[in-house]
Amino acid sequence: MKGVVCYDSVYGSTKQVAEAIAEQLRAEGHEAVLVSVKDRPRPKLEGDIMFIGSPTRWFTMTKDAKDFVKDLRAMGWKDQPIVMFDTMLGVPEDLGERTKGEWGRKGAAAKMRDMAKADGLSVRDEVLHIGVTGMKGPLTATGAQEAKGYASQILATMGKR
Ligand SMILES: Cc1cc2nc3c(=O)[nH]c(=O)nc-3n(C[C@H](O)[C@H](O)[C@H](O)COP(=O)(O)O)c2cc1C
Repeated sequence: MKGVVCYDSVYGSTKQVAEAIAEQLRAEGHEAVLVSVKDRPRPKLEGDIMFIGSPTRWFTMTKDAKDFVKDLRAMGWKDQPIVMFDTMLGVPEDLGERTKGEWGRKGAAAKMRDMAKADGLSVRDEVLHIGVTGMKGPLTATGAQEAKGYASQILATMGKR
């Protein structure tokens, strides 16, 4: 399987999460490519699953991440699954609340998910939030490991739907 891990990042934390997800894909024997939403010309996107991440800034995604999600179809992504993630300061302690509920609506990932859904893309309802410890990062000590664990859970569900 091939995973495409796309990210925007201002200070580097979201990029680190993207790298952790890509590392997990490779550790489980898959291919992984990292794509910055700032890459120009726009890449042609090919793969079996995509992860897209943005820093949360004022409860939403960056402009570059927003434009990237809007361009997904033009870049060739149609029916394959998409998983959204973000980094944010205010991640709740409760692991269950990371992917749903009130907090899900406060991060960049849920906004990107809703945009992709409105475009008819096959995006997962659950989103992943990874915490940072200050306005400009860095990631929490466990952030990269949490991202890997989540990626692994997602991979385990592939092919079972
Ligand atoms: C201008 C600005 C606005 C932010 N707004 C939020 C926010 O609404 N909610 C939140 O939890 N964190 C917020 N943060 C913290 C960011 O989520 C943090 O900078 C980001 O996770 C770092 O990711 P990066 O290193 O990939 O840029 C904000 C940070 C900045 C600089």
